[in-house]
Amino acid sequence: MRAVIPAAGIGTRLKPHTYSLPKVLLNVGGKPILGHIIEKLLVEKINKATFVTGYLGEKIVEYVHKEFPSLKADFVEQEEALGLGHAIQVAIPTFDDDEIFIILGDTIFDVDLKKVFLNKNSSLGVKMVDDPSRFGVAVCENEKIIKLIEKPKETISKLALVGLYYITNANLLKESLNDLFNKKIKTRGEYQLTDALQIMIDKGERLTTFQVEGWYDCGKPETLLSTNQFLLTKCGTNRRVENVVINDPVFISENAIIKNSVIGPFTTISENCEITDSIIRNSIVSSGAKIEKAMLENSIIGSNAIVKSNFRKLNTGDSSEIEFN
Ligand code: UTP
Repeated sequence: MRAVIPAAGIGTRLKPHTYSLPKVLLNVGGKPILGHIIEKLLVEKINKATFVTGYLGEKIVEYVHKEFPSLKADFVEQEEALGLGHAIQVAIPTFDDDEIFIILGDTIFDVDLKKVFLNKNSSLGVKMVDDPSRFGVAVCENEKIIKLIEKPKETISKLALVGLYYITNANLLKESLNDLFNKKIKTRGEYQLTDALQIMIDKGERLTTFQVEGWYDCGKPETLLSTNQFLLTKCGTNRRVENVVINDPVFISENAIIKNSVIGPFTTISENCEITDSIIRNSIVSSGAKIEKAMLENSIIGSNAIVKSNFRKLNTGDSSEIEFN
């Protein structure tokens, strides 16, 4: 089986972090989003993967080669991000198996893949959501998907596609993607994977769904921070530092230098950070950042950024009321 990981997007919603780093390489829970995904694939013995790159793609190539030398990695370039359907179409020349597992490069999931791969037919990861209007949705009869609709205007189903697609008939997917392009079928201006999968259904292919309860999106600052929270509860570190109060769960890199501070809960401190006289909670501090005399909450601090604040000097009378905003 081959994994296909679309990672060509610009990550607009995560600017300014994505000015210098592709979204999939942003640090969450102590390592890049892509690192979490690849580790999961390797556990399942999926050791062939196609990365669809575009924006800052050379950084993805460098990261994968450096951190995962045992992975047989192919890289294809999507010159313009014309949609997920287009991203997968660009990857077609690397398809060499009937089974492919497509996983969005900005999605961390917690699902029993062994069970998913027991399916004899193609199966798509779904989750019940309150507002399905920003997702592709599946309408099912019994187990079978009868219709897929990208970003429905009316709530026809609350079963959202969450970015995991197990395909057992790669040839038919190829054919359907080619149809999508030949007929120029676009939804909201993009070539959608959902529309290509609908073509597969129209051609008679049986598609089913599997439930993904643990689905952690990394597309926006708020979701990146909540995914960080989830990952830290699973794989935080136990590092203790003299004169530093650590409120678990946290990830603290072995070579981060921290003095006189309170770290956590839910805080990632990456390699080579220097933190002094600060309180940091529910935040991600990227590599090489320096923070001094600062109180930070719900923050994402970029690599090598410098944040300096100061202690206040007060000389108040009795019964004064002072509030700093
Ligand atoms: P998103 O649409 O969420 O990612 O696509 P984005 O475009 O990078 O983010 P925003 O909307 O600008 O903030 C989900 C995943 O699919 C990939 C993205 O890289 C991301 O990993 N993708 C999307 C592609 O590779 N190509 C595309 O044409 C679209």
